[in-house]
Amino acid sequence: MNILAIESSCDETAVAIVADGHKILTDCIASQVELHRIYGGVVPEIASRKHMEAIYALADRALEKADLTRADIDAVAVTYAPGLIGAVLVGVNFAKAAALALNKPLIPVHHIRGHIAANYLAYPELKPPFLCLVVSGGHTMIVDVEDYTKMRILGTTLDDAAGECFDKVGRVLGMPYPGGAALDKAAQRGDDTKYNLPRSKPGVNPYDMSFSGLKTATLNLIHHAEQVGETLDVDSLCASFCAAVSDTLVPRLVAAIRETGRKRVAVAGGVAANSRIRADFLKQAEALGVEVFMPPLSLCGDNGAMIGAQAYYEYLSGNTAGMELNAFATKSILGETI
Ligand code: KG4
Ligand code: ZN
Repeated sequence: MNILAIESSCDETAVAIVADGHKILTDCIASQVELHRIYGGVVPEIASRKHMEAIYALADRALEKADLTRADIDAVAVTYAPGLIGAVLVGVNFAKAAALALNKPLIPVHHIRGHIAANYLAYPELKPPFLCLVVSGGHTMIVDVEDYTKMRILGTTLDDAAGECFDKVGRVLGMPYPGGAALDKAAQRGDDTKYNLPRSKPGVNPYDMSFSGLKTATLNLIHHAEQVGETLDVDSLCASFCAAVSDTLVPRLVAAIRETGRKRVAVAGGVAANSRIRADFLKQAEALGVEVFMPPLSLCGDNGAMIGAQAYYEYLSGNTAGMELNAFATKSILGETI
């Protein structure tokens, strides 16, 4: 089954064609990152307009690159939530028109379910149940993936997402948007013990976490250094920051592995590209004897293929939509409007 998958929830317009949920026939991305960089973050209206300009040609290019014609497409999938609403609307509207024109099913996909499904592309042998640590620009959660479309949230961030903190700290340090990758690179040259940054303590739900304290402490440290004219060791600050984020995430994931007894554990989302988090997670998971799944960096960030992968399983579960499908800025991974 060839699924034409559309993703436009943030600043990447992405169109992929995925066969049977795991084989990428093509994965085209038109990134707007350079455009938003001068503003230090995504400007929603610019994002929507750029998606509008790019999406049609990108879909045509996807067909061309896969050496397919419109007649070879069996269904159209689209990210319908969550994201910048104007941006998501562009993708949803395009997908509706495509499904109507091709007379094929329309499959709505939750963006975070898509991130988790990137693992099926990287590891076709992976099947639920498994645990997944989802860390992206807007979401941070530990999910028990009981089945392809049946999930349980074990814990989430109570305030900021990990990616938001990376981007904020990166911006204040003068790094290009989005700061996560640059911060990661600088961290590799630094001493992670040089700056003492806070880690959120387990609360009522031991799997919930918080990043706002870490963000504030890091920003205060930077501003204080500026005020007193102290030169910061930026590489070591980045290393200390990455260590603090990892120390917040990985022990909770380890606790969840122990509690649930799951034998397979995956990571997903843009921040899952972080080398410190990957290394710490790998070390802990190996010690626990669980199987580890970490998508390549190209599949951690936003892409269309992950939407095509999840769409296949949504379709098999009967989760298709009609022309009344709407877009949502927020929606839980379980499908509830929040
Ligand atoms: O999943 P994603 O591409 O988009 C959302 O759904 O939000 O995640 C984007 C986030 C950004 O905050 C970006 O800074 C972060 O992923 N990111 C990283 C790294 N690469 C991207 N954060 C830490 N280390 C990285 N290597
Ligand atoms: Zn994403």
